[in-house]
Amino acid sequence: MDKITEVQSQALEAIAAAQDLNALQQARITYLGKKGLIQSLMSEMKALPKEEKPAFGQKVNICKQEVTAAFEKRTEELSRLAVSAKLEKEKIDITLEGDRLTIGTTHPLMMIREQIEDLFLGMGYTVAEGPEVEEDHYNFELANIPKDHPARDMQDTFYIDPNTLLRTHTTAMQMRELEKAEGRTPIKLICPGKVYRRDDDDATHSHQFMQCEGLVVGEHITLADLKGTLEYMANRMFGNGRKIRFRPSYFPFTEPSVEVDVSCPFCNGKGCSVCKGSGWIEILGAGMVHPHVLEMNGFDSEKCSGFAFGVGIERVAMLKYGIDDIRNFYINDARFLKMFDRFD
Ligand code: PHE
Repeated sequence: MDKITEVQSQALEAIAAAQDLNALQQARITYLGKKGLIQSLMSEMKALPKEEKPAFGQKVNICKQEVTAAFEKRTEELSRLAVSAKLEKEKIDITLEGDRLTIGTTHPLMMIREQIEDLFLGMGYTVAEGPEVEEDHYNFELANIPKDHPARDMQDTFYIDPNTLLRTHTTAMQMRELEKAEGRTPIKLICPGKVYRRDDDDATHSHQFMQCEGLVVGEHITLADLKGTLEYMANRMFGNGRKIRFRPSYFPFTEPSVEVDVSCPFCNGKGCSVCKGSGWIEILGAGMVHPHVLEMNGFDSEKCSGFAFGVGIERVAMLKYGIDDIRNFYINDARFLKMFDRFD
């Protein structure tokens, strides 16, 4: 009988001492489990004389009931503690300031690129793309600039190996598109993209910049078509009333070649500091696709002709938004970029 009292007080102590549900479970196994101490008290009953059995059995049962009740009570306590500990751990301070998400703006160069794309898509052009790491073949050879041609010096090139380079102009894409067409006309596309030259960066030069090439090939395409197209572009980009003029120039892949000026949008051609008093601003190079370029790409230059132009996106953006340093486009100064949320 003393042993029962002993086991019971040990069990109650162990239950009270359990600090978490795991420890409590261990105590349950030790005392209340199938092979636990209380169960073994029951089996000891067999060895007792008959008359002692009822009292002993009763005491063990009471012991079992009390230990079970204590166990249940402690389980409830510890569960409640566990829940509140978890809640405490996961507590969120709703008074803390949250992360503010600042909404970016379209990069000004992307804005110009998209405006140019939109206006040419509206005239039925398609937009072509090509690789920035380009073969000498497309950047130079097919553009009528063979290895020893002095025009290679006009475009200081980043070479990767003797036949691979960073394209120096979007004209490389023009050549890919001409080759792809396999002599079929009409062709009417623009190719916008990044180009690279080994220039020292300053206010008007950047070793990486963007161009958009335009190319039309078909029957009876003339310089007048080029002029009308560029005049339309100038009016859309710089406002109505723009005039354009052609000055003779030289590019190996066009003949004749022209430098194109637009009447100054700031003074309406009267002369101001932006156009340096001339009333005109140079915006792009263009010309009629050189017959040799057409032939090299599989076109019959007797039957078809074409025009091409290449416009500098930075140049247009600088004029349009009055930006005086090309490096602004590339240094990711949020104060600069943020200004363009006012434009569409
Ligand atoms: N590729 C020339 C340049 O980068 C521009 C150009 C394109 C000129 C197409 C004529 C025709 O300067």
